[in-house]
Amino acid sequence: MAFYSRVSGSVGMITLQNPPVNALSAAVRQGIVDTMHRALSEPEVKSVVICGQNGKFCGGADIREFGAKMTGPPLVPMVHLIEAASKPVVAAIEGIALGGGLELALSCHYRIAHSKARLGFPEVALGLLPGAGGTQRLPRLIGVPASLDLITTGRQVTAAEARQLGIVDEVTDLNAVDAAVKFAQSVADKSLDARRISTYPCPRPPDLDTIFERAMQQVRRSARGAIAPGTCVQAVHAAVTLPYAKGMERERELFSVLFNSGQARALQYYFFAQRAVSRWSTASGARWDTSKPRPVHKAAVIGLGTMGRGITVSLAQAGFSVVAVETQEKQLLEAKQAVSGMLERGAKRRGVPLAHDKIKYSCSVQAVADVDLVIEAVFEDMALKKTIFQQLSAICKPGALLCTNTSGLDIDELASQTQSPELVVGMHFFAPAHVMQLLEVVYGPRSCPEAVATAMQMGKKMGKVSVAVGNCRGFVGNRMLKLYLEQAFFLLEEGATPEQVDQVLEEFGFPMGVFKVSDLSGLDIGWKVRKADGLVLPAFTGTSARIRGGSRYSPLGDLLCEQGRFGQKTGKGWYQYDKPGGRVAKPDPWLFGFLEDYRAQHGLVARRIDHQEVLERCLYPLINEGFQILQDGIAAGPEDIDVIYVLGYGWPRHRGGPMFYASQVGLDKVVERLEHYQQIHPDVPGLQPCRLLRKLAAISNPAIHKWREVIQKPRSQL
Ligand code: 3HC
Ligand code: NAI
Repeated sequence: MAFYSRVSGSVGMITLQNPPVNALSAAVRQGIVDTMHRALSEPEVKSVVICGQNGKFCGGADIREFGAKMTGPPLVPMVHLIEAASKPVVAAIEGIALGGGLELALSCHYRIAHSKARLGFPEVALGLLPGAGGTQRLPRLIGVPASLDLITTGRQVTAAEARQLGIVDEVTDLNAVDAAVKFAQSVADKSLDARRISTYPCPRPPDLDTIFERAMQQVRRSARGAIAPGTCVQAVHAAVTLPYAKGMERERELFSVLFNSGQARALQYYFFAQRAVSRWSTASGARWDTSKPRPVHKAAVIGLGTMGRGITVSLAQAGFSVVAVETQEKQLLEAKQAVSGMLERGAKRRGVPLAHDKIKYSCSVQAVADVDLVIEAVFEDMALKKTIFQQLSAICKPGALLCTNTSGLDIDELASQTQSPELVVGMHFFAPAHVMQLLEVVYGPRSCPEAVATAMQMGKKMGKVSVAVGNCRGFVGNRMLKLYLEQAFFLLEEGATPEQVDQVLEEFGFPMGVFKVSDLSGLDIGWKVRKADGLVLPAFTGTSARIRGGSRYSPLGDLLCEQGRFGQKTGKGWYQYDKPGGRVAKPDPWLFGFLEDYRAQHGLVARRIDHQEVLERCLYPLINEGFQILQDGIAAGPEDIDVIYVLGYGWPRHRGGPMFYASQVGLDKVVERLEHYQQIHPDVPGLQPCRLLRKLAAISNPAIHKWREVIQKPRSQL
């Protein structure tokens, strides 16, 4: 709702009240309309201030209402009522003015912002455009190029930048509401003719066509199939080419197309999913609201390779004191130089405070004796990791949390090396660790709730989205990825090319197809794991070369590694590159010959594989494994899996994540297609729909938010 009061005798004050972000729910909109009428009708009131309760102006339209039937006054007439008011209306912007919140502010005649406030149009991230006049008013106020930037990217600006752009009239370090009241008094008698943004002509720079062409190219490049950014460009175009009223009609049409799209539904689901994962629970019943994190002031990182360096940077930037440990002076020095460079680049590009003095480097593991939490990031070698956990257990102070960044080894086996197995958890970061937002917090059967809560909170403080997952081979992300990779290999055996598979996946919205990503990460990593698992056998022909443990296995990746083709780092992998370390992937005629020979050797006849099969074969087994993970209790809900895939594996956000995608395709359809492929390839692993997937498909494809009711039933009933 909105609360009305009178201050200093002549100022009508409208305070939005809808915690936590004063979103414009039906009740708030009704409140604003009612209180505006009241302020306009009271003769003593000469001017009006609109502000938000609890130091937050407004977080925009109430996203929770989007799925339901619209009630209450619509936003557009509400902002027109404010702009048309005969008394000056001043927005007092504290905290946030986002989306509809900024549109509300733009309908006011003046805007006063607190210096810590952030303003922006994040609608594009929800699959929408600013639909209450934002696309028509902002260009009139700050011009086309700056508006295109803010509206198509959703970038939020500080109050200082907003002032520079001309969005706000004044910025204050003091109380913004008090400042707005004083300001409102000072402008009470001023004419409003020049203050209604909708009446401004929209600036028309001479190179208008080029600006819009570039904007379209830019969004096409970065949107990866998302429709909202391009539609935002069209709406801004309407502001320049049409009179205001017609521009508003166009905005409404475009908004309606987006609002009713599957992409908007996916992005809005994802918005809430990313917030839902912080309310974690474990299979044994520990929960976020009953588990208290331990205080962590000082942390250590063991092993300063690719991952350890990024983790060190991330910890230091978050304000933790860090002890960074390597084996020998040479490696330590190299790591120190690399970390310093990363910190400096962070300071330069993102304005993060330089944190060199937060880090102490050492070649001795003894240096970690007084830390509160250790993150081990040495080679992926169980024997080495076990030795390190034994050492840590003897050296660290009682109560210190011992964490591992392993990509998939058994957390419990490591915990068993320590005196306090309950204090061992996985903190699985993603490369580059100072950039990637995802953290899988892996709890073992003995990890205590406090340890999980501490790791989850550490991740949050480091600016990550932490997702709690159970302990199994590969945890959630890599366990599902295995199925995706395997299918891609099988498709090559059956007749596809890496370019074909990658193209289909990139058209779906992945930034890179599976083969390009493998080349980037290094083919040798998976090869080492497969060797350790005993899957890599000496080359021989015949069907048994393609069978492991009774299931089909493709040795294609192993054969490439045997040729020294490790991907970008060696200049050759699934593609060729102009030099070792080269980035531009080109199809490699050698590989076509290699695949032909391989097929001939194994009696395989290449067939034409269409787009649909590539997509379904790659995605449905991965999705099926997601259901198996839910069935096994490794992830608490589909949101956890979706957030992991969007933030860690490049799953296109506008498709919501693999589990949401499956819900949109229809679970019965996913089951049917898996069964279809299973019939054709009975020996191929991963094609048999799991029990939970079948069960949900059989109870007529319930909405994704209802899945938990089925998942939470005793596992024997699934
Ligand atoms: N509607 C409904 N709920 C909202 C909301 C909104 N616009 N914005 C935030 N919330 C909810 C969150 O879901 C969360 O709820 P939970 O505690 O139950 O999970 C709670 O508010 C707090 O949110 P955060 O955890 O994200 O809190 P932060 O302080 O980290 O961030 C924020 C606050 C910057 C406002 C962030 O929540 C945000 O970016 N919100 C979305 C803002 C947005 O996209 N606005 C545009 C809406 S669309 C629109 O306005 C259309 C119009 O143009 C017509
Ligand atoms: P890396 O090979 O780049 O670095 C490992 C570092 O550990 C080396 O610098 C090595 O000198 C150091 N080291 C080895 N023994 C040590 C010891 N006893 N004491 C101190 N330092 C020691 O390896 P990377 O890629 O950083 O991987 C580390 C861990 O992170 C592995 O468990 C890996 O599975 C995991 N991981 C790797 C990801 C990646 O993309 N590289 C992603 C996520 C997890």
